[in-house]
Amino acid sequence: MTKIRAAIKGIHAWAPEYVLTNKELEKMVDTTDEWIMTRTGIKERHILKGEGKGTSDIGTEAVKGLLKKTNTNPDDIDLVICATVTPDMVYPATANIISDKVGIKNAFSFDINAACSGFLYSLVTASQFIETGKYKKVIVVGADKMSSVVDYTDRTTCVLFGDAGGAVLLEPSEDENGIIDSRLYTDGSGRVHLHQKAGGSVRPASHETVDNKEHFVYQEGQPVFKFAVTRMADVSVEIMERNNLKSEDISWLVPHQANMRIIDATARRMGLEKEKVMINIERYGNTTNGTIPMCLHEWQDQLKKGDNLVLAAFGGGFTWGAIYLKWAFDGKAVAK
Ligand code: UT7
Repeated sequence: MTKIRAAIKGIHAWAPEYVLTNKELEKMVDTTDEWIMTRTGIKERHILKGEGKGTSDIGTEAVKGLLKKTNTNPDDIDLVICATVTPDMVYPATANIISDKVGIKNAFSFDINAACSGFLYSLVTASQFIETGKYKKVIVVGADKMSSVVDYTDRTTCVLFGDAGGAVLLEPSEDENGIIDSRLYTDGSGRVHLHQKAGGSVRPASHETVDNKEHFVYQEGQPVFKFAVTRMADVSVEIMERNNLKSEDISWLVPHQANMRIIDATARRMGLEKEKVMINIERYGNTTNGTIPMCLHEWQDQLKKGDNLVLAAFGGGFTWGAIYLKWAFDGKAVAK
């Protein structure tokens, strides 16, 4: 019996309307557009405004669009996985809330927390369910409302992040296209450099934790940068070597968008021209679990059946990984 392969059969993404520019940030903290652009490549980011709005609202927009454009009945969905570090609540899972909001009633659902690598971890997890043959339609959402955990008085982090998300529909492939290989890694010792100090079981929320601003992203930029720049490139080269892929065989690199310099270093190590790299960090910043599906959605029109894609990410945890897949449909033929 030939192995069942999981293929992405639809993609949709969504970003909130409000745009926070570098110019506006210049008025909020001691920074400059020039510093942000040269160190990160970010010009603006989208922010979800509105009382009571959370990550599930981003995910819901993405999934609604996905169901519509793939002509999928919500009743036919078997599983929903949501990758996020900014869940609506500590529990229940944001995937459950999204499912409820879009009317998915016959699926089970759960969240995956692997920081910026969460979308890749979730895609690999979802593909295993498809490969068993038991599950036919699985939705993977990557979404974050990073503005809910960003301290807008801390110039070292507030310039980096934005809010957005996307969703893909995975189904069994009818041909050789689909997810072919993946490598995922974790190094928990890296947690000291990037984490949120309070709100978990070690330091539950208290007046003190709020006063100390411990519910925000804590990041030591340089050590994270050093790890990210080598690990994301290493794992991308590893996935090429494992699958005998030469630079010219790769149609697109879809990198996590944390820093333009990390993306450049990865592309360079893979021997790829800029034209083959999906980059939209300038307009969205780091949307954590949203970056990769946001790119796939934006580039959908240019994606052709059989294209070789490498997806790569690095994030808090530390977590990192890469996926090699063959794109399964002509993007132009499908409404965006
Ligand atoms: O996606 C999850 C994983 N995260 C990442 O991949 C992020 C990895 N790290 C980075 O992308 C970079 O380290 C940052 C963009 C966060 C920082 O860039 P950097 O080149 O590593 O800068 P730095 O932290 O070494 O700071 C250099 C200087 C410091 O001043 P002094 O100490 O040299 O006087 C900072 O205080 O730049 C200062 N600085 C700023 N200046 C203006 C830090 N943030 C800002 C700012 N505006 N926003």
